[in-house]
Parts: sequence; structure tokens; C-alpha cells
Amino acid sequence: MKIKEIIAKMTLQEKIQLCVGKSFWQTKEFEKYGIPSFFMCDGPAGLRKQQLGKNTDMLGINDSVAATCFPSAVSTANTFNRELLYQMGKAIGEEARDQDVALVLGPGVNIKRNPLCGRNFEYFSEDPLQTGILAAEFVKGLQSQGIGCSLKHFACNSQETSRLLSDSVIDERALREIYLKAFEIVVKKADPATVMSAYNKINGVYCSDNKKLLNDVLREQWGFNGLVVTDWGGMNNRIKAFTAGNDLMMPGGSDYMEKDVLEAVKKGLLEEAYIDKCAERIIKMALKAQELFKEKYKADYSKNHQLAVKIAEEGAVLLKNEDDILPLKEDKKILIVGDMAKDVRYQGSGSSHVNPTNLEHPIAYLSSYDYAQGCDVNGDTTPELLSDLENKTKKADAVVVFAGLPSKYESEGFDRKHMRMPEGHNEMIETAAKANKNTAVILFCGSAVECPWQDKVKGILYMGLPGQGAGQACYNLLFGKTNPSGKLSESWPYSYSDVVSSEYYAESRDALYLESIYVGYRYYDKAEVEVSWPYGYGLSYSSFKLDEFELAENKVTVKVSNTGKYAGSEVVQLYVGQNNPALHRPVRELKHFEKISLNPGETKEVTFELNDEDFAVWDDAFKKVTGSYRLEIATSSRDICFYKDIDVNGEEVNVPGWQKDSWYENCQGKITQEEWQKMLGRKYVPAKLVKGQFTMDNSVMEMKDHSLIMKIMYKAVEKVISKGFDGKIDYDNPDFVMLMNSSAGAPLRSMQISGGIKGGVFKGLVEMANGHFIKGLIKMIKG
Ligand code: BGC
Repeated sequence: MKIKEIIAKMTLQEKIQLCVGKSFWQTKEFEKYGIPSFFMCDGPAGLRKQQLGKNTDMLGINDSVAATCFPSAVSTANTFNRELLYQMGKAIGEEARDQDVALVLGPGVNIKRNPLCGRNFEYFSEDPLQTGILAAEFVKGLQSQGIGCSLKHFACNSQETSRLLSDSVIDERALREIYLKAFEIVVKKADPATVMSAYNKINGVYCSDNKKLLNDVLREQWGFNGLVVTDWGGMNNRIKAFTAGNDLMMPGGSDYMEKDVLEAVKKGLLEEAYIDKCAERIIKMALKAQELFKEKYKADYSKNHQLAVKIAEEGAVLLKNEDDILPLKEDKKILIVGDMAKDVRYQGSGSSHVNPTNLEHPIAYLSSYDYAQGCDVNGDTTPELLSDLENKTKKADAVVVFAGLPSKYESEGFDRKHMRMPEGHNEMIETAAKANKNTAVILFCGSAVECPWQDKVKGILYMGLPGQGAGQACYNLLFGKTNPSGKLSESWPYSYSDVVSSEYYAESRDALYLESIYVGYRYYDKAEVEVSWPYGYGLSYSSFKLDEFELAENKVTVKVSNTGKYAGSEVVQLYVGQNNPALHRPVRELKHFEKISLNPGETKEVTFELNDEDFAVWDDAFKKVTGSYRLEIATSSRDICFYKDIDVNGEEVNVPGWQKDSWYENCQGKITQEEWQKMLGRKYVPAKLVKGQFTMDNSVMEMKDHSLIMKIMYKAVEKVISKGFDGKIDYDNPDFVMLMNSSAGAPLRSMQISGGIKGGVFKGLVEMANGHFIKGLIKMIKG
């Protein structure tokens, strides 16, 4: 039967029900119409397929089927290697085929707006072009296996604080040039099967029912043909969501707004055609999956493990290498320090958490060397541990300290409180460096950290979160079996106070994007703020020379030579900046990059083709702006090898009246609310929490101080969650905090959806919270 014929036979209610999942991870089947169900699970660093039943969750707490745990996006991005991203996507696609998973929920292409975002490890970069290009390769690789991807979280979901409630208040230019750009690139280049609408609002409208976002921009302007699925529990208003083209509500199990939608159609307030369209897209995907899984497929997990090792190696960034302390010589007396050498931090917590097939800790490869623990799993140390470390350090030729952020510090579900590493890790490094000048640090974390000891150690190798092949990758890199070739996908500021949004990021329920387009290096370069290590930076055991930079017509060429002793790779970067722009712009923006591998003495030519987008800004549409531009060939955003100025003919753009003398012209000092609101073009009024006006859109957490019933409910949620933690109410445990934030911190509607709850229980609770106890009770009983 053709899809349209199926739709014609289905009742309105059946179609509405089809647009909600059946379980946590499946869509509904309708046997009588030949509509099969399909299975989906998280990514993006590997599969997290959970068995259906009681212990399913969207936060990576409970077990899942073993799968290859690849490095997290923080590391894959640092590879700057398109081919590797394709291969990784393909391998995950193969494992998905093996495990009968039709849709993988990833990649996440939100922008690393601020180092404290708890989920930065899952995102690629502060730069949208780099994010978009690499994520597109991942999607192409994965979808080459017939499996679908879900590009997430669409959009402006760059913080975990109040993630289910917050409004991302942002100007159109920042939205288009920075926060939507990566999505646009992936949609246009790689045609992802699905896009996941984010939990938050954008300028007052929830992403789940945001017509501008899902219909006008995604489908009409970018030509997206696939399915839109909500984030888990992220549906706001189903009537509006149908009109916006948000096809599938996940997870399944609840009957949230089913009656409202039925009534809306009956009353002529919602055209049935919208529901038909959504149902059509779901059926299309289900039939495709059914076809694919007719044939059994076996993935090669051991081959994929080796790929995970390779990506971990290529994603490592050598930040410092004084006196060539690295690579180490195997026959020297080396002291290995730190709990992370034994229990490496290799992936992030939350929905992306993978149950690895073959986890290798570094110590397995380093057991012939002396070891000092230095600190415990949480990063705390003791005088005894430090004195043992000091004694052993003195006897060693070289010391390697394993340090970074324990999982307690960064996770989905909450943001980091500060940018520091645990005090114990800093002390451990300081102690080692004081006792032995040949000290190197190997760092594991999902985003930038402050390194107050950076001048005291000789070497720093940043691994990001390297996945299950961490052990072998660390060994190969430390001993020069592999040459580091990663580059930073985010700037590393000296201290948190140097971050442009440090004073207001995650400080309120709403996410206020005062800094507009000035994120990461776009800010540091314009404000002339020194950083520890700039965007695009990374050393090698070898050395490279760039020369013969030429520009002919629209082609830029440059030659790269390996002038060192080791085979290695350099990432050639092309930045573009307008000279004296009338409309404020960053000093430079990455427009092209290429990773080139070279044997010692080898030379290769790199060619970049310029296009209109390289010179464009958003001014009601992307416009190539007339003017003089500087093209820079660089090995990081602060290591510019050559430049050439060129004149470009394009269009004139509007220069808004508010711009003169504003922060946006030079990024000096603080941004005032007044100038931000002028730039935004409207007044921003934060929502007030008023008893009597609570709705399904408020969370238990925010209502608990205003309502007894919500206080009781909060305690009840705490109690239920504590059952999974040996009865302990444990705010020190990241999983506990994540669960509290994702339940008590979620709007009531989200609790209803994620809890798979039917009926009007929550509507009754809202009445009670508003002070109408009897009315609420009646609603609950009726519900
Ligand atoms: C996360 C998504 C994830 C989903 C399903 C949500 O909490 O935000 O990234 O795909 O859960 O696990």
C-alpha cells in the first residue's frame, strides 16, 4: 500500500497516536495498516541501546548493550579530519545495523558558547563552520549504512542550567551566523534523516512548536525533507507542534494533549493535513527501516575498537612541549601519576554514555613503570598521597601526571560551577613539577580548564575524552609511536573571568546572548584578550613550514612541508576578515581548513576555493558585503603565516543606528543591558513566577518554595530517585543531580511525557499549586 493510501485509511485518532512513540525508544506499529515500528537510541559517541522495560532512561544511568565507545565530540572535533569523522559515523552505522537500531540520536552540533556548559564534551566547537563540516561527514558516514541520524539539539541549547525551561534570548544575526549555521551546513551537505528539536525556547517560543525554526528556516529555507523529533520530554504544545512540522513526540507512553489535538481538529482550529504530513514522514521512515533490517548484519567490533584508538590519537592536542620532553624514551625511569591513569576519564555522563566493548585504561600499557596515585577518583588528595608522590618523583627521570575533570565535574543535566580542575589535581601537578623539572601533564576533560601550573611543567597533552581506546592511544602518543596532530576546537582562556559571557552565563532561568556573534576567538581576537591557547592551536613532534601562498582568481594555494623528523600532520586554516567594516564584524572567521599528512621532508600543496559565503553576513539574508578583506593562512587563529588583502564586490548592508560607540564595535569593557536590548531590537522582560499563574510549564523545583503540594512532591521525587542510590539523597553524585534536574527541574508537562503518564493528574497538581486544592483534587480524580 502506498503511504498516502495508508493515511487515508487511518482514523484521526490513530494518526495522532502514531505521532507519539510506543515506548522510550520505539515508534508505534499499526499492524492492520502494515506500519512497522522502528527502534532508536543515543549516540553520538557510540550506541546506547537499552533493553526495553523498567530500566530504560534518557540519562545514561542504566546499562545498555555493549558497543564501541568512540571518543566524544570534543576529541573528534580536535582531529579536524573529515575522513575520520566519516569512518566513525560509518562504524556506528554498522553497529546500529547489527543491533537493529534504525535511528541514532546524534550528532550534537550546539555551539560551545561558554566553557562551563556541562555538555560541551558532546559538542564540537565554538566555531560553526568547523562544527558543520565535521558533523556533516559523520552524518554521511552513518547514513551510508541506511541508518538515520538525528541532528540535535535544534537550536540554541548551549547550557544545561534550566535546559527544559529556559528561553534563549538572541539576536537574529547571532542566530543565523553562529547558532543555526552548523545545522544549516549539515542539513545542506548531508541530508540527515531527522532533526531533534531542543528543550528550550528561542525568543519566547519553545523549539518543539517553533514554526519559524522548524518550518520556515529548516524546511523552507534549507530544504529539509526529513522527520523532526522532539527531545525526550521536550514537547510543549502538540497543536502548535503539528503546524510547525514537529512530527514525532518522544518518549512514548503518555497521552499528552491527545484529546486537545482531536478537539482542535474537530473545531477547525487545526487542519488535519498537518497531522497527515507528520504521520506520512513517520511511516516513510518506518518502512525504510523495515526494508533494511530484512537482512541480518554483523558489525566488526574489534575493527571498530582500532578505529576508536586511531581517532583518540588524532584528536589529542599537544599544547606544550618544552625541551621536547615528549615523546618519552621507553628505557627511562618514568613515574606515572594520578588516579586517571588507572581509571581514565574517557567519556561523558548522560544520554551519550556508552557501555564499551573493550575499555583500556592507560595503566595497562604503562605497568612496567613506577606509579603514584596522587589523588582519588573524585580528584581529592591527602598529605600522605602527596608525600608519596614527591618521594617517587625525585627518583624519576621524567614524570607524567594524568589529570583533568572527574565525571562529577561535568555532565549532561547541569553546568560546571567554575572552570577549575579539582584542587587535588592542581596540587598533584604542582608537587610533581616542583620535585622534578621533567614533568608533563596529560589532560582529560570535555572543555577548557584553567591551568595555573602551565608555566611550571614542560609538557601538556590534551586528550579530551578519548573513548574506550584511551589506554593504547595515550601510550602511542607518549612514546612517539604516533605523532599528535590535533588542534583546539575551542579557545582556552587563562581564567574564567576572561570569558565574554562569564558574568551572566547560566546565572538566570533564561539564556541571554548579550555577546551576540562574539563567541570564542571571535571575541578574544576583537577584544585583544590573551588566551592560554588559541582556537586552532596544536603542536607536533615534527615541524612544518608553509610557503608559496598565492591567490589567483578565487583560488588560494599554499605549500606545506614537513621539516622535522617525524611523520605528522598540519591543519592549514584560512581565515577571512573585513578591513574596517561598516557593520561590526569579527576580526577573522574560519572559512576553510584542510588536514595534511606529510612524511619528513615531504611537501604538499593545499588549495582552497573562495566562495560568496566567505564574505557574507546576515542582514535579513546572507549577503556578500562589498569591501576590502584580509585573507589569512594560519596554523591557529593566532598563528597567522601570511595574509593578502583583496577587494570584493558584493552588496551594501544596513548599519544600524545603535552600533556607534557600542560594545559591539570593539568588544571593550562590559556590555550594558541597554545596548544589548537596542541590538536585540526589543525590550527583554524576564518571566515572573507568580502563584495563581502556575501552568504545566512550571517545574516542581521552581514552585516548591511557593506551594506546599509542590514541596511534598519535590521530596517525593527526591525519595524515588534516591532508591537508585542506596536510599541516599546525594547531591554530590552527578547522576543524582542530573536526575533531579531532569525531573523536578523539568516542566510538569515534561514529567508527564517522560513518565509515560496518562490522564490529568498533573493538571490537578497545577490547580493545587495555584491554591485551588478541591478543584485540583477533582481534576486529578477525573483525570
Ligand atoms: C537528551 C538527548 C537524548 C535524549 C534521549 C535527552 O535528555 O537531551 O540528547 O538524545 O535524552 O536519551
